[in-house]
Amino acid sequence: MPIKYLKYSARVWDLPTRIFHWLLVLAFIFSWLTQGDDRYLDIHVFAGYLFLGLLIFRLIWGFMGSKYAKFTNFPYSKIWNYLTTLLTTKRQHFLGHNPAGSWAVFVILSLGLLVSITGLLTLGGEERHGPLAGMISFELGNSFHEWHEIIAWFMLGLIGIHILGVIAESWLHNENLIKSMITGIKSTTNKINDVPKYGLIAIFMILSTISGILSYFNGYLLIENYRPFIGPNLLQNNLWQEACGECHLAYHPSLLPARSWQLMLAEQENHFEEDLYLEKEVITELQTFAVENSAENHLTEVAWKNNRSILPEQTLLRITEVDYWVTKHQTIEPEIWEHSKVNFKGNCGACHLDAELGTFEDAAMRLPDFDANND
Ligand code: HEC
Ligand code: HEC
Repeated sequence: MPIKYLKYSARVWDLPTRIFHWLLVLAFIFSWLTQGDDRYLDIHVFAGYLFLGLLIFRLIWGFMGSKYAKFTNFPYSKIWNYLTTLLTTKRQHFLGHNPAGSWAVFVILSLGLLVSITGLLTLGGEERHGPLAGMISFELGNSFHEWHEIIAWFMLGLIGIHILGVIAESWLHNENLIKSMITGIKSTTNKINDVPKYGLIAIFMILSTISGILSYFNGYLLIENYRPFIGPNLLQNNLWQEACGECHLAYHPSLLPARSWQLMLAEQENHFEEDLYLEKEVITELQTFAVENSAENHLTEVAWKNNRSILPEQTLLRITEVDYWVTKHQTIEPEIWEHSKVNFKGNCGACHLDAELGTFEDAAMRLPDFDANND
């Protein structure tokens, strides 16, 4: 039952504003759900692009949209009066955003832009993808990654406050504001005109989102074992493939520092209890290739991270003993390691489609299918 002074109703939110709002909610939910699990990085990145696109649209719409979507009509300066009279009978009713809502929009848009920008910087630095691919170092990408997460948590907090505010305001004025953001209709004290719908722009927004999704994800439909992110082309070496690919994957030298390979090759007659029987010249050539492409050269994200997580005084012979590797794989169940398709931890190719290439892209990971292959 609406409060007595809210006798009328009118459309205050045009269609593009409402579509923006709910698509932004979806983009945020998807980014949140896919954060932290690298296998879903491409969904995370798409949600991020959608998020950024929507923010840019909203900034433009804040100048060109209908009356209540315009930033110049936001009652920012009335915030004090609004808050101090909120719990009294003198409280004001606003047609568009109330002052608290206006500030929420401002802060959420600003944080949203920051989170998008730090996301792009992380993607370009750590993953070597996106518009900033390789333009900044792994190191810088990694520090933007930390900011990306901190700002995202701030945003989550603000969204929480925004939702509480919407619930409080809905309750105080006895009108359902969530429904208003769906239908566009709000109760009003005076008779006012509906804002235009802007149907064509709304259709354009929905069509561009759908075509964005289709063009971003079509590889899953069209290509078998599709890998959304293809890494850099790492240098390969036939001799290395031949000498090291016989018993296990020929691990790309970028996975360990130069000193590890040198020690491993020097002790080749005692290679994990195997003798490699390599000739002297072969060893020299393998060493040259390994040193030139070792982890210190930061050819990929895993190279950089592996190298950073090994202490300078440590000379590891196993990739599977590197701290970074251990952390990344600690949640994998023991049954999976014992699965007939895996057998041992160093069998990277059982789960990483790009193991041979040495790139270990986040979105190229697959856990082996249990039910189908557990023979
Ligand atoms: C004759 C078979 C054989 C050949 C050839 C061979 N390896 Fe190995 N390698 C092994 C065995 C066995 C292990 C230990 C596997 C286990 O039990 O985890 C191993 C383990 C490794 C590991 C550690 C994997 C981990 O757990 O992180 C690396 C790195 C490695 N080999 C590199 C090389 C390189 C480089 C070459 C070529 C110069 C090479 N291997 C050639 C048999 C071989
Ligand atoms: C049993 C399957 C399995 C095997 C075998 C395996 N991995 Fe993984 N690996 C995973 C999964 C799953 C993840 C994702 C973990 C996550 O994101 O939390 C992962 C993550 C990674 C990452 C992190 C990727 C990134 O960019 O963040 C690297 C690097 C990696 N693995 C390298 C290796 C190497 C090198 C080997 C072999 C020595 C190996 N993995 C063997 C399943 C496996």
